[in-house]
Amino acid sequence: MKVTVIGSGYVGLVTGACLAEMGNHVVCLDVDVRKIDMLQRGEIPIHEPGLAAVVARNAEAGRLQFTTDAAAAAAHGTLQFIGVGTPPDEDGSADLQYVLAAARNIGRHMTDYKVVIDKSTVPVGTAAKVKAAIADELARRGVAVDFAVVSNPEFLKEGAAVEDFMRPDRIVVGAEDERAIHLMRALYAPFIRNHDRLLVMDIPSAEFTKYAANCMLATRISFMNELSRMADRVGADIEQVRKGIGSDPRIGYHFLYAGTGYGGSCFPKDVKAMVRSAAAQGVRMELLEAVESVNERQKSVLVDKVVARFGEDLAGRCFAMWGLAFKPNTDDMREAPSRVIVAELLRRGARVRAYDPVAADEARRVFGDAPGLEIVGSAAAALPGADALLIVTEWKEFKSPDFDAIRSQLRQPLVFDGRNLYEPALMKSLGIEYAGIGRGAA
Ligand SMILES: NC(=O)c1ccc[n+]([C@@H]2O[C@H](COP(=O)([O-])OP(=O)(O)OC[C@H]3O[C@@H](n4cnc5c(N)ncnc54)[C@H](O)[C@@H]3O)[C@@H](O)[C@H]2O)c1
Repeated sequence: MKVTVIGSGYVGLVTGACLAEMGNHVVCLDVDVRKIDMLQRGEIPIHEPGLAAVVARNAEAGRLQFTTDAAAAAAHGTLQFIGVGTPPDEDGSADLQYVLAAARNIGRHMTDYKVVIDKSTVPVGTAAKVKAAIADELARRGVAVDFAVVSNPEFLKEGAAVEDFMRPDRIVVGAEDERAIHLMRALYAPFIRNHDRLLVMDIPSAEFTKYAANCMLATRISFMNELSRMADRVGADIEQVRKGIGSDPRIGYHFLYAGTGYGGSCFPKDVKAMVRSAAAQGVRMELLEAVESVNERQKSVLVDKVVARFGEDLAGRCFAMWGLAFKPNTDDMREAPSRVIVAELLRRGARVRAYDPVAADEARRVFGDAPGLEIVGSAAAALPGADALLIVTEWKEFKSPDFDAIRSQLRQPLVFDGRNLYEPALMKSLGIEYAGIGRGAA
């Protein structure tokens, strides 16, 4: 099938590459000339495991092309995926300007039947706006061309995006048009060969499902983070509690980890957008308001522990930090807790020596030349002479570190573990002072 993907970021590029992998002919469009230049040179602008190989293979085979030519992109695909960003507006609601610009572009250039697919995360009612924008452009041109708008939200996880796209838990398709539904089934059939996981529903329900999923996941995180504060006070270990409740199949083990708060490009903005779009309908989402405020507070939890140990003024102190990305296996630092932690430590006069396996370049872009911050090339290089080690992202390489080096290289053996990677009893036996999140010994 001929497919156009508009927006070549985390979602667009993975979607385009994985659809090409199944034999489709895909054109990926972006307005970012630098990004398209890189992709045309065979470089991948983001860190996503397995993606480079899929892109290279399909580009080589001529099934995957990259362009900034909007007219050519609109002409190419019968299926037109919109995968552009939907960042928060000033008031927290989803900013649809990029989605609608992409839609208008299609309307401006299309000459035959198109299925326009909203893959970006968009609030209920967006498909109707996309439809109106395309109809408006067609009317301006004075032409009548048939098209359908479909909602097909994306559930991939950064860091496992290719795997998720190739083996989806479910594919949600919100559509009314039978021809469009038929094309969507045909496109996705190779991804769900062993059993059908394609759920066809009405468009508003499909749009709503994506927000509901992310809000549920964010709620679980904030719930555990809130419990962890209490656990610290009463001497309970949140990790034991997690196992104790996760064993109930109604609860399950996934996504029950206390930590330094959720970040990334999705949960923060999607929770906000849900609260805002509900408010616009006169519905107050009190639970989600609390999910958001618990999360904001949680981003400071490690610094709170540092301050409790060293005092308000951290001038002259130096902290080693492991992890900058908002989660492992990605270089994405959008809304990452590390941003808040670094800024707060620097504000209090401390120096920070940070290491991340893949996010160093992104961190240099985010922090610029922030005085007091040094980004180093290895976990070991962050340690010498630091007052303590802070763990911020749960990269695998931090899970079994050289504890002797931690003990001997730091000014004193002290670890603030924002991801609960280590067992308090082990740390005690190693002679390392340890503060996790909700481990009962703050
Ligand atoms: N990142 C994720 O893990 C994830 C997962 C599921 C859903 N989503 C949703 O998918 C959407 C995209 O997210 P992302 O992380 O891929 O964003 P991104 O910022 O990585 O990529 C968006 C791309 O769209 C391009 N763009 C903007 N306007 C354009 C236009 N008119 N024409 C062509 N290109 C245009 C931008 O230059 C950028 O490269 C968002 O709505 C997001 O909520 C993201």
